Amino acid sequence: MKLGIGCDHGAYEYKTEIVEMLQEQGHEVIDCGCYDRKSVDYPDYAEKVANLVVAGDVDLGIVMCGTGIGISMAANKIKGIRCGLCTNTTMARLTREHNDANMLALGQRTTGIEVAKDIVNTFVNTEFSYGERHQKRIKKLHDLEEC
Ligand code: RB5
Repeated sequence: MKLGIGCDHGAYEYKTEIVEMLQEQGHEVIDCGCYDRKSVDYPDYAEKVANLVVAGDVDLGIVMCGTGIGISMAANKIKGIRCGLCTNTTMARLTREHNDANMLALGQRTTGIEVAKDIVNTFVNTEFSYGERHQKRIKKLHDLEEC
């Protein structure tokens, strides 16, 4: 799978570990930064990854910040993005199955590294549950972008 990944300074260590894990598994990863602990603004990195997802340059996007909250908020401002902030693997599975999330958000300050890795693996390996009820709701989500 081809994945876009990005973070702010608050999740630089997790991004480094998760990129390494995904590459070891054979995934192609586009690393949008940031590349060290120097203070940056999370919307800039959400935008970089979201643009790859919307353009179809990657299959899925993964973004991280201290809590995952700010960077998920930013990603969800981009038309076409459905970014789910997940703190456990059930959320990761269901946001793919029910919401067809095309981006995952994680928080380095709020989620342990092993749980974070399990969340990423669950997110990447779960398919959307195609079916009328979910598709209808996702269409309604996108209709809200026009409000
Ligand atoms: C950065 O200090 C911090 O605010 C950010 O990583 C994130 O937690 C915001 O939601």
